[in-house]
Amino acid sequence: MKILLTGVSRGLGEALCHEFDRLGHEVAGCARDAIAIDKLKTSMGSQHHFSTVDLQSDSDVKRWIQQVCEQWGTPELVINNAGIINSNAPLWEVPLDEFERVINVNITAVYSVIRHIVPQLLERGSGVIANLSSGWGRSVSAEVAPYCASKWGVEGLTQALAQELPNGIAAVPVNPGVINTDMLQSCFGPSASDAPTPAQWAKKAAPFFLQLSMSDNGQQRSV
Ligand SMILES: NC(=O)c1ccc[n+]([C@@H]2O[C@H](COP(=O)([O-])OP(=O)(O)OC[C@H]3O[C@@H](n4cnc5c(N)ncnc54)[C@H](OP(=O)(O)O)[C@@H]3O)[C@@H](O)[C@H]2O)c1
Repeated sequence: MKILLTGVSRGLGEALCHEFDRLGHEVAGCARDAIAIDKLKTSMGSQHHFSTVDLQSDSDVKRWIQQVCEQWGTPELVINNAGIINSNAPLWEVPLDEFERVINVNITAVYSVIRHIVPQLLERGSGVIANLSSGWGRSVSAEVAPYCASKWGVEGLTQALAQELPNGIAAVPVNPGVINTDMLQSCFGPSASDAPTPAQWAKKAAPFFLQLSMSDNGQQRSV
């Protein structure tokens, strides 16, 4: 299967990349970290397609998706995985630029990917879009209000999109669970190390993403 995956430089995205590869699937992935992208280009086969992209730029997202669809093919599965979290703080102490960045990466960039990939999926008439939500897209905690707002937003955006897409194309909000990544270390501190590693998680997450279908359209799912 051809899979478009954002945020492949580390954490869940990188682990998913390796697991999809191991299972014989092809990944077109992106992130900002050029060194990590070069490493993926050299360590993984030429059937994959990796690019350095900042998803905060809609024109860069447009160019990336055009390139992927022309040079590599239209994906059957799209996983909007890239995301960021604010540094723990009460909402009124979060700097404006940090608040805006969380909304831009976690919501606006997801919209950008959808805006440029859906016409391709419509042309073919099939596809699955999985948007990474969070436990904090369905519940809340103190000190991560911007992140909670963004992930509740992802849930709403995805469920509304699911009502708009024609039969054959599904949109699914997915809570990945709790995994020891840079993001978890930022909000949980040292206790993040109690959580499974991304590689352990990817063993069950990759098959989970691969089996998503029309019956999951608009449904809140968890890995
Ligand atoms: N870890 C958990 O326990 C957990 C729980 C619930 C939900 N999630 C969700 O799962 C997803 C992955 O999280 P993670 O824990 O793997 O986070 P992570 O380790 O911090 O990795 C985040 C990824 O997103 C990419 N990214 C961030 N900003 C970007 C931008 N502007 N353009 C392109 N790529 C960008 C990063 O790449 P660059 O920095 O190289 O751009 C990186 O590859 C996120 O949506 C997160 O909210 C995670």
